Amino acid sequence: MLFSLTALLFAPSFVASTTSGYAQSSPVFPSPPGKGAGIWADAYENAQDFVRQMTLEEKVNITRGFTVTDNVCAGNTGTVPRLAWPGMCLHDAGNGVRAADLVNSYPSALHVGASWDRNLTYDRAYYMGQEFKAKGINVLLGPNAGPLGRTPLGGRNWEGFSVDPYLSGQLNADTIVGHQDAGVIATLKHFIANEQETYRRPYFGVEAVSANVDDKTLHELYLWPFMDGVRAGVASVMCSYNRINNTYGCENSKLMNGVLKTELAFDGFVLLDWNAQHNLESANAGLDMLMPGGGFWGNNLTQAVQNGSVNEDRVTDMATRILAAWFLVGQNGTNFPVPGIGLKNLTQPHEQVDARIPESKPVILEGAIAGHVLVKNNDALPFKKNPTMLSIYGYDATIPGTKNTDNLFQLGYTSSAEMGQAVLGTEQHFNQAAKGGTIVTGGRAGANGPAYIDDPLSAFQQRAKVDGTWINWDLTSSNPDVNAASDACLVFINAIATEGWDREGLHDDFSDGLILNVASKCANTIVIIHAAGIRLVDQWIDHPNVTATVIAHLPGQDSGEALVKLLYGEAVFSGKLPYTLAKNESDYGVYAACGRGPTNTTDPQCDFTEGVYVDYRHFDEKDILPRFEFGYGLSYTTFNYSSLAIEPLGIKPDAQGSSTPSSDEALWEVIATVNATVTNTGPVAGAEVAQLYLGIPNSPPKQLRGFKKINPSPENSTEVVFELTRRDFSVWDVITQGWVVQSGEYAVYVGASSRDIRLDGSITV
Ligand code: BGC
Repeated sequence: MLFSLTALLFAPSFVASTTSGYAQSSPVFPSPPGKGAGIWADAYENAQDFVRQMTLEEKVNITRGFTVTDNVCAGNTGTVPRLAWPGMCLHDAGNGVRAADLVNSYPSALHVGASWDRNLTYDRAYYMGQEFKAKGINVLLGPNAGPLGRTPLGGRNWEGFSVDPYLSGQLNADTIVGHQDAGVIATLKHFIANEQETYRRPYFGVEAVSANVDDKTLHELYLWPFMDGVRAGVASVMCSYNRINNTYGCENSKLMNGVLKTELAFDGFVLLDWNAQHNLESANAGLDMLMPGGGFWGNNLTQAVQNGSVNEDRVTDMATRILAAWFLVGQNGTNFPVPGIGLKNLTQPHEQVDARIPESKPVILEGAIAGHVLVKNNDALPFKKNPTMLSIYGYDATIPGTKNTDNLFQLGYTSSAEMGQAVLGTEQHFNQAAKGGTIVTGGRAGANGPAYIDDPLSAFQQRAKVDGTWINWDLTSSNPDVNAASDACLVFINAIATEGWDREGLHDDFSDGLILNVASKCANTIVIIHAAGIRLVDQWIDHPNVTATVIAHLPGQDSGEALVKLLYGEAVFSGKLPYTLAKNESDYGVYAACGRGPTNTTDPQCDFTEGVYVDYRHFDEKDILPRFEFGYGLSYTTFNYSSLAIEPLGIKPDAQGSSTPSSDEALWEVIATVNATVTNTGPVAGAEVAQLYLGIPNSPPKQLRGFKKINPSPENSTEVVFELTRRDFSVWDVITQGWVVQSGEYAVYVGASSRDIRLDGSITV
């Protein structure tokens, strides 16, 4: 096995203690220049030719942001007029083009995670990428591999696909390829351990939280999806606001120079999160671009080169990485619009740039359907016949009256008073149920506003108009009257979350009370929860009159239509939870964000002492019964699993002292295959997510290492094949700084969820 020399330099790694006793991040210098390996080769050749012609000032100029009054891009780089380089517009993000007209609102990443559907993930990313391109956005500020979801209260967990690093990694990779195939630069963010919003940034003399993570946890959990992103060719990575082992993410040479650029051999550019803490030295630490202004760089960077504190080669490398990204996705072609052309100030006269294309329509609707998870069904769904009378309750059934490009709208609030006052740091006031209306996204950078929201009440009414169904509705009362002739009562509630604040809790009394009140009067009560994260259900899930429950996540603009199709049986439930839904808050290994509540610290510390035991890894290890486990979701049909076949392909343990470095091709070699047959044994069509978990020695009992979404027709079977790589079997070795396959017995589980294992076997290594 190859042994990396640089790896040795990293060995005195994270979490050495200092005199203060706090974890520390060790320095790694110098900054490794991009190599232009693999898919980057041509882009580097072009970029190097281009940068050779640039002066120092021109190079410095493209590594920073400038205020441009002509567009509302979140950021604009400098330009190089002498060489006719137009500069770049950078803009958010996850649900589609933000703060713009004539764009679509796609399902949120969490919703995509709940679909477990790699094809839909790619298609969504591709069409969304086309919209960014049409608007003249060079750099799309997504997708998101951090936060992963260490605390279930995390305000931005919904911007990521899953708390599981494997699922997150696969879907981030598919998204990156989709965006970049469409011709825009993807930005994988936020690097790294950006797991909470509380103390997310320095604030009036208070430092940002320090995420104190040990090297093994970093690699096996938080870095894992970033590895997939870099391998998928992501052209940009955004460093995060928080500190990691007491050094700010965007000043952290260990992480940028060491982990990202050396260990993962990342050839793209590292982008500052907006106004994140950094200094002049961050240039040497591996940061390549500042946003939205010039911060400590600009002329200071030019002077730093002149006085020798930053080497000009470093600035050349920054410019080369930035231009290589631009060439990689083909923005040098003639068909890329003028940067920011479709992102004008909406209140000023502007050309109408309609970014929506017809091909995206089925992808948006299919995506909305696929992320709904049916968690309880006492034969209430699908409706057996077209109902004669439906009663609809709850604030989440209709759209809020605020304007569609307004953040309050995205959050489902009617006023900022209703939303609550929020400040950074310790004072959190955040009304977690958005009672102003339905939510189809979470809030802020990940959100956007569409032309329409197909909200639940309207969608059921459209259907009623055709069928002659009588609809009763009362969306305001906490204890509504129920017409005793109702065929079913649908109760709509939500759980909102947003960038900037962590959530107050995982359920609220008003919504739980509403459900219990309706259920006390209606024998067929169906609960639908739009949820920007985990929403507990134990206050009412066992109520005999609650006959079905749907976790509807954040479906995007086609929310109502998707739900109507599912409830009437014109579409099938195929989503599975991309997280664990516990019975109680206290069941989660990590619950609150660090530093919540009254505290007078100016230096908040957050020790990730739980290691990799987050979400189901914790529940399995401690043998805690969840309400609905990771990977769980019901279907309208049933699936049988059979014929497990495990084939080791020359899998051998690593010898003592040897390991595979992160950037080594051998890590991605398939070293075992697992086959199983899945049969649709029910009467109707359906889709199943077959999941493979490995029990790796000295690790959590089960870890997801494969999934396939399949849809055998009734009475038919599909063979699923899982290809397991060396990395899938490996653990991180802090001594050799590489991945090690240990000797021992590896349990192999194939099933319908993390706890519904249908087939098991093992591989002895
Ligand atoms: C967020 C980023 C976002 C950037 C630009 C920051 O506050 O953390 O996710 O891309 O703003 O809007």
